[in-house]
Amino acid sequence: MLSLLESCGSTKIANAAIKGSDMIVLLNDFEIKKGNNTEFKKYLVVQNEILQYPICVYRFDENTYEALLMKCTHQGTELQVFGDKLQCPAHGSEFNNHGKVENGPASTSLRTFPITIEGNQLKISLK
Ligand code: FES
Repeated sequence: MLSLLESCGSTKIANAAIKGSDMIVLLNDFEIKKGNNTEFKKYLVVQNEILQYPICVYRFDENTYEALLMKCTHQGTELQVFGDKLQCPAHGSEFNNHGKVENGPASTSLRTFPITIEGNQLKISLK
């Protein structure tokens, strides 16, 4: 099962700019144009060289997003995203798209970041 998931888990990591203490993600980056229709990605994985771990930004609707640090709260391994879940390759912990633990051994939620929406940008506060 896991190898099947991995084969379609080609998550692209986008580089995001940092301004002050905010990471900036363009809302357009969630869009997938299909002819005249626009669909939206469920999540984006963003990275900047000043961060030790990438951040997974889930989109629930145009005003609702969640930014999760992809660092396992068990022993700090970088998580992998599979759709609505993040999994730890080290000992199998699983977190949902709000960062809550669904399977141990991790017992605490992922770090989340406050998000504000300004025009066509998401500002993720890293403070
Ligand atoms: S480091 Fe993630 S489950 Fe142990």
